[in-house]
Amino acid sequence: MIKNEFIGKYSIQGLLSMEFFLDSTDLEEIKRLNNLGIIDGLTTNPSLIYKAKTPFEKLIKNICSEIKGPVSVETVAESSSQMINQGVRLSKMAKNIVVKLPMTWEGIKACVELSKININTNVTLCFSTSQAILAAKAGATYVSPFIGRLDDANLDGVQLIREIKQIYSNFNYKTKILAASIRTKNHVSQSAIAGADVATIPPKVFDTLVNHNLTDQGLEIFNSDWNKSGQKIL
Ligand code: G3P
Repeated sequence: MIKNEFIGKYSIQGLLSMEFFLDSTDLEEIKRLNNLGIIDGLTTNPSLIYKAKTPFEKLIKNICSEIKGPVSVETVAESSSQMINQGVRLSKMAKNIVVKLPMTWEGIKACVELSKININTNVTLCFSTSQAILAAKAGATYVSPFIGRLDDANLDGVQLIREIKQIYSNFNYKTKILAASIRTKNHVSQSAIAGADVATIPPKVFDTLVNHNLTDQGLEIFNSDWNKSGQKIL
């Protein structure tokens, strides 16, 4: 029986453990949560970059020096050739950069080319299984199904994760399913049950993961009874 020892951040049994990425460009929040020791990576997007109100290169370098795992940064271009050029430049900013590409034909073409030169990619704005198949066939490192936005449209975001997982298992595709557009802790747990490899979680959602009223109630009783016992742990 393998003892539940830890090698680095991964348990022996949990080498396939679900990875937690932060979905944020707020450096203070990133540092605060990274301090927990369980953050495996980070994703950004052009809207989060805009929100940061910080010069782009400085922001990305600061994030990449704080987060040692994969950091997704998105290209903003029309043509695949522009995306490839931007992707090569982004990959030189830090060794843990993952190049985010849009789920368009130009994005798919750029993904094929960047994959050929071993630049990690994350095909984003995925809303269907056919799109997810394209990402896998293009050699994407990650595909990002946006489950919150599907729910907003009265569709079933977690069901998409299930279906992508089934398809990827059917054909042994290596692309990792990165559940994005996470709005609640239920999205995180349901994505894990559905088989997502990664969940990228906004800090405000991440903070709720540990909460449960029965935990609070139980701890209050334990502490109260311990104090009444008069015992001491040396
Ligand atoms: O990584 C994608 C994520 O930031 C999008 O989230 O809430 O804008 O759909 P949201």
